[in-house]
Amino acid sequence: MSLVCVADFKAHAQELLSKSSWDIIEGEADEGITYKENIAAFKRIRLRPRYLRDVSEVDTRTTIQGQEISAPICIAPTAFHSIAWPDGERSTARAAQEADVCYITSIYASCTLEDIVAAAPRGLRWFQLCVQSDWELNRKLIQRVEALGFKALVITVDAPIVGKRRRILRNQLNLEAMLKDLRPPEERNSTHLPSTTFCWNDLSLLQSMTQLPIILKGILTKEDAELAVKHNVQGILVSNHGGRQLDEVPASIDALTEVVAAVKGKVEVYMDGGVRTGNDVLKALALGAKCVFLGRPVLWGLAYKGEHGVKEVLDILKTELHTSMALSGCRSVAEISPDLIQFPRL
Ligand code: FNR
Repeated sequence: MSLVCVADFKAHAQELLSKSSWDIIEGEADEGITYKENIAAFKRIRLRPRYLRDVSEVDTRTTIQGQEISAPICIAPTAFHSIAWPDGERSTARAAQEADVCYITSIYASCTLEDIVAAAPRGLRWFQLCVQSDWELNRKLIQRVEALGFKALVITVDAPIVGKRRRILRNQLNLEAMLKDLRPPEERNSTHLPSTTFCWNDLSLLQSMTQLPIILKGILTKEDAELAVKHNVQGILVSNHGGRQLDEVPASIDALTEVVAAVKGKVEVYMDGGVRTGNDVLKALALGAKCVFLGRPVLWGLAYKGEHGVKEVLDILKTELHTSMALSGCRSVAEISPDLIQFPRL
């Protein structure tokens, strides 16, 4: 039977993956309150469509950090794609290039950055960095990433340590050992453990090392959003790490409103967490996100059919967004406005 929505890919991936790989990918922290809330919060939002507009042409294209993408649906950084598909991040990179969207490559990739770039040299890529305590290592990595043509640095701020993932403990998996084992052989010596001391004041050091735009991933509050703007970053990715870090924080779609209001249009705001349908994308854009990113759905696509599975996931969501836009009277991404959202929320 053909797979027609992202939920179909999830069900298929669960059948195909080993229990431990499935559990690593699900990986919710503690009681999984935020993990569930990421999805539930989207479903509480109702839409206010407008009719009698010419929707014969609907254009999903947009830009992020000045670069055009075919739709505001891109790939969030996730570790170790080789647990889902042997060719790992190379397949993801090919699918992203084919779909003409941005792929944020994780610092915990299971292929070398050089191999990922060689697999899809024309693709738009950003690099996700967990800042490490060794600044020389940070500098070298940033130089390498710049030389390889990555177009932005995404700094993950919500993971100075790893959240408590019950599934990992129940399976008696050692994440730190896996971090090492799943790295490409030539990089096994650098474990890239995040610094626990990295603070706002260290951002300027990071900025002095690169010309690339810096995007902070994991911001959830207006206070931190204001600090991010004050520290001259170029973007904020509202995220709770897919409910894998601190449990019982708000759904990303709920935190988005607060962050968008705080930055007052000064920097681009993106979101990830729980995006599973075209309507979800429409809602996130209406609430002020410039683009959404997908975590688990990409791994489900990979597990199903490698690069073709990822491309299918991206295509399905793009088509669903196209339908949602036409059915709500939006002919372009610029026409997706807060008026589309019914207030007060349920
Ligand atoms: C992640 N995420 C993540 N984030 C990050 O900044 N660096 C990383 O290496 C990883 N690794 C990772 C592995 C796996 C298996 C998952 C599922 C997630 C978090 C990711 O970027 C994103 O924030 C969430 O996955 C978004 O939520 P959804 O789309 O999975 O609901």
